[in-house]
Amino acid sequence: MATSILITGAAGFIGSHFALEHARAHPSDSIVVLDKLTYAADRTYLDPIANHITFIVGDIADPVLVAKILKDHAIDTIVNFAAETHVDRSISDPSPFLHTNVTGVQNLLNICRTYPSVRLLHVSTDEVYGDLRDRDAPKKTDDPLRPSSPYAASKAAGDLLVQASARTYGIKAAISRCTNNFGPHQASEKFIPTVIRCALNDQPIPIYASGKNKRDWLYVTDHCSALEAILAHGAAFDSCSTFNVSADSEKENLDVAKAILKILKKPESLLSFVQDRLGHDWRYALDSSGTRMLGWKPVISFEEGLTKTVEWYRNRIP
Ligand SMILES: NC(=O)c1ccc[n+]([C@@H]2O[C@H](COP(=O)([O-])OP(=O)(O)OC[C@H]3O[C@@H](n4cnc5c(N)ncnc54)[C@H](O)[C@@H]3O)[C@@H](O)[C@H]2O)c1
Repeated sequence: MATSILITGAAGFIGSHFALEHARAHPSDSIVVLDKLTYAADRTYLDPIANHITFIVGDIADPVLVAKILKDHAIDTIVNFAAETHVDRSISDPSPFLHTNVTGVQNLLNICRTYPSVRLLHVSTDEVYGDLRDRDAPKKTDDPLRPSSPYAASKAAGDLLVQASARTYGIKAAISRCTNNFGPHQASEKFIPTVIRCALNDQPIPIYASGKNKRDWLYVTDHCSALEAILAHGAAFDSCSTFNVSADSEKENLDVAKAILKILKKPESLLSFVQDRLGHDWRYALDSSGTRMLGWKPVISFEEGLTKTVEWYRNRIP
């Protein structure tokens, strides 16, 4: 059945891939994009589907605008990617993070109360669980939330508001929490784009502390296919189910940087160890068995994804 889907934050990294893939896989769906066009956005990513979507510049925290979009476009599904996402920025100034990741999410929930048949898939992060030691088992969806950074705390608040609205008002919602994504379209200040840009320009590559912190890497289109699997599982929205999404691909940051240098044939002498991030999480890892029970599995290996990513930036970074 064709749906009318609102994709928020679709001019950003993951949302743009999701919109492109969704338009290709569901050509009869009506797609509306709502994006504030922050520093992280580039609406040209959506050029290939420009004729297929309605693009609205605006804020998910704007109650009048969001209500109008739901009414005018008879929206039946919202996928919320809109967020402030950079941990370092949240350490400098948490305010925009509270605005979008907390107030903005509550605004979407308020409007879903008026349209009770609308389903909300809220995209969240592994960072809400806080970090793990090396001996810890991957986090399960019912593990406690112990966010470390203002970014992670704002995302955890958003998740809890979604759960509270589902319980209190019966809103149809589901939450996905994924590990670190990588691929084309990511804002240039994030870790992998920074390493590629510095390497291409033969500049020092900043690595926090020892570089031994571990992240669990998921190629962006594999994340998008997991979200489609959740959307296809209608029962998830009746019980506000939470899904962890991971490719079980843990790597030390230093090893990721070295892998990029190898692809670009640049020397490891470019690596420059800098003072650690405040409150820096040591390791993330997720148990994604619930999402795999929906029939989902990642198909892009870390090596293949990294090669594609480097190639994409190589053609764009000055
Ligand atoms: N990138 C990752 O590795 C990662 C990992 C886990 C979870 N996530 C989550 O996935 C989602 C998408 O992340 P991303 O990396 O694509 O983010 P991004 O920073 O690349 O893009 C965010 C998009 O949201 C838009 N936006 C910001 N505030 C807005 C507002 N108030 N109203 C409307 N639009 C707004 C921006 O303009 C941008 O286009 C986020 O919720 C993030 O927490 C990302």
